[in-house]
Amino acid sequence: MRVLVITGAGVSAESGISTFRGKDGYWRNLDPTKLATPKAFARNPDLVWDWYRERRQRIRKAQPNPAHQAIANLALQADEFLLVTQNVDDLHLRAGLAAEKMVQIHGDIFMTRCSRCDFRRSEHEHEDGDLPKCPQCSALMRPGVVWFGEQLDAVKIGIVENFMRGGDSDLVIVAGTSALFGYIIDWALRARGQAGQLIEVNPEETWLSQFAAKSFREPAGVALPRLVNELLSNVNRRAPTY
Ligand code: OAD
Repeated sequence: MRVLVITGAGVSAESGISTFRGKDGYWRNLDPTKLATPKAFARNPDLVWDWYRERRQRIRKAQPNPAHQAIANLALQADEFLLVTQNVDDLHLRAGLAAEKMVQIHGDIFMTRCSRCDFRRSEHEHEDGDLPKCPQCSALMRPGVVWFGEQLDAVKIGIVENFMRGGDSDLVIVAGTSALFGYIIDWALRARGQAGQLIEVNPEETWLSQFAAKSFREPAGVALPRLVNELLSNVNRRAPTY
């Protein structure tokens, strides 16, 4: 079985990490142009770093939930598997998903990288509150995430495209994302190809719902373990259709 899974903030919601556009989502109360753009960082790096450090702390304390575990389990059993996650947290990894089976298309919140040169370091442990400066070139360091108005990482796009070139996926699961970005819908539809199944997991309707063979209107932590169990118990027989 060849499987592509695409996840968004909703998959980490049950671990206590806020979504962006849902109820209590970050962008309901905070202005993204003040926190998540290169301009915002140039204007007020302290404010931007404070917000990212607070999010890092919250993620450090959070635990993977049954949705992350179900996806890691599916990855182990599928013949070919790729997860494209928009989440910058590390909960998919901590649930046991192999790093080479996933792409964090919007970056990694624990990566701190130089805003000028190639220097980068991973900061999973506690950090102090000073503005980080690059040890190589002294420029300001920034969080290793994709901000509004920035390009996606070409290497990461290459990994996704390479998976697409390997053939149509039997199953495409899109979970916990409002699917507002065109590339998310594009990858989901192209991966499904002519014969694959596209399944959505989201309590709410999204742009993707119209294309899905089935939308489970439930929390990911409820729907994904059940779905993966069903798939795996059928894997030696015929894959279930929804
Ligand atoms: P959003 O906040 O836009 O959407 C979260 C989705 O999760 C919504 O459709 C909710 O209905 C759904 N949801 C909420 N709780 C859920 C649960 N328990 N189980 C399943 N689904 C649930 O988050 P994303 O789609 O991830 O970008 O947002 C995409 C990007 O926009 C983010 O990566 C971020 C943001 O600006 C960058 O940082 C570049």
